[in-house]
Amino acid sequence: METLLLVEDDLGLRKQLRWQLEGFSLQMAGCRSEAIACLRRFEPKVALLDLGLPPDAEGVSEGLKTLQELLALMPTTKVIVLTGNTDRENAVQAVAMGAYDFCQKPFEPQVLALILERALALHRLEAENSSLKTLQTSTPLQGILTHDPVMQQLCKTVERVASSEVTVLVHGESGTGKELFARATHHLSPRSEQRLVAINCAAIPENLLESELFGYEKGAFTGASKQTIGRIEYAQGGTLFLDEIGDLPLSLQAKLLRFLQERVIERLGGRAEIPVNVRVVCATHQNLAELIRQGRFREDLYYRLSEIVIKVPPLRMRSGDIALLANVFLEKYAASQGRSLRGFKPEAMAALTHYAWPGNVRELENVIKRVSVMAEGPYVGTSDLGLDVVPAEDGALTPLPLNLRQVREEAERKAILDAIAQTDGNIVQAAGLLGVSRPTLYGLMRQHKLR
Ligand SMILES: Nc1ncnc2c1ncn2[C@@H]1O[C@H](COP(=O)(O)OP(=O)(O)OP(=O)(O)O)[C@@H](O)[C@H]1O
Ligand SMILES: [Mg+2]
Repeated sequence: METLLLVEDDLGLRKQLRWQLEGFSLQMAGCRSEAIACLRRFEPKVALLDLGLPPDAEGVSEGLKTLQELLALMPTTKVIVLTGNTDRENAVQAVAMGAYDFCQKPFEPQVLALILERALALHRLEAENSSLKTLQTSTPLQGILTHDPVMQQLCKTVERVASSEVTVLVHGESGTGKELFARATHHLSPRSEQRLVAINCAAIPENLLESELFGYEKGAFTGASKQTIGRIEYAQGGTLFLDEIGDLPLSLQAKLLRFLQERVIERLGGRAEIPVNVRVVCATHQNLAELIRQGRFREDLYYRLSEIVIKVPPLRMRSGDIALLANVFLEKYAASQGRSLRGFKPEAMAALTHYAWPGNVRELENVIKRVSVMAEGPYVGTSDLGLDVVPAEDGALTPLPLNLRQVREEAERKAILDAIAQTDGNIVQAAGLLGVSRPTLYGLMRQHKLR
């Protein structure tokens, strides 16, 4: 049964409506504060609001104030305003302020039922639409949004080379979108139906990395209780993504080079040469030329890996992208929060474009994620961004979010995203960090619409 909030101080009318609205689970409120409390507690999709509320039962000021507060907290709620038969003008004003519709007293039961039904249908449609939009913007073909000519050129290059077998090296500062380019290379290639196997060379301890990459036979070392296939072999037919290749230890660099030259691997403790057909893509934020000079990276391996080099520029070098990405992220995250943030105030946009973004797109995304939860709106101001240390306004209370559920959900979502990011998408490890089982984490990811 759908919850319906009825904000009405007239006991007679309450009684009548309770009887007419049998199909709903009805929550009654007699004044503004009760209405807000009910909204926080029950999150109704639809509310009926009498404009004549105490202390201004004869006027509409309190009713309109209530409307404003309800919508500020839950913009998705459809509010239907109840009016006397003479104050059409006020009803129209309420609609202009964001009410969904109005209904004049005395109510005709069928008319009211119809309005409610349509309000619920619209609510449902909007909810579906917003979740579709979230999915779409997070997964267009390439996932790379840009207005920047250099970036567009890189996208074209990736499109061109994706279908070939050449090894692609993506280079760029942290958070610039290297992984997006690596994944796009796979998705645009004839191997897209096969696996993309990613391994982060910086995240795995040196002593484990070798067996992780090459696999091992039973008994190869203490604890090798069964034959295990390495990531290279696992990528058979598909693409192997070696992330943070600059962190690959020298000993393994030689082994990897041998694999790239001969396209066969040997599992640890095994003798058989196993042919493996994979396309290799790698990424690093390190300056490999410098590492070569320092003797920490093999030059011959570098030439093998860098058949095509994609140099992703840092965000501060493509300031046009800042506005584009900020707006897209705001739309996406505000929608997923059910908030109607319409955009940035000009000073806020200026602050965004002037900031240096050492963490690049990832940092920008995180800032906007936080803004979409915290900003009062409808337009995001400079202080909402929290880019510089802004002195706290004395005595000012931070506005409370809708309710604990929203806070919890956001915190949960953030923790999941952080754990997945920290483990580079390794769900088993992420579940471990979060102290839940893997199926539980998958369930939560579905719930939060995370892929
Ligand atoms: N051009 C872009 N359009 C849309 N989203 C982007 C773009 N560039 C980066 N992102 C987003 O920014 C975040 C970081 O991107 P990604 O993981 O690809 O960066 P990275 O260079 O691999 O970072 P790191 O160096 O930390 O590994 C991701 O959430 C990604 O979706
Ligand atoms: Mg990365």
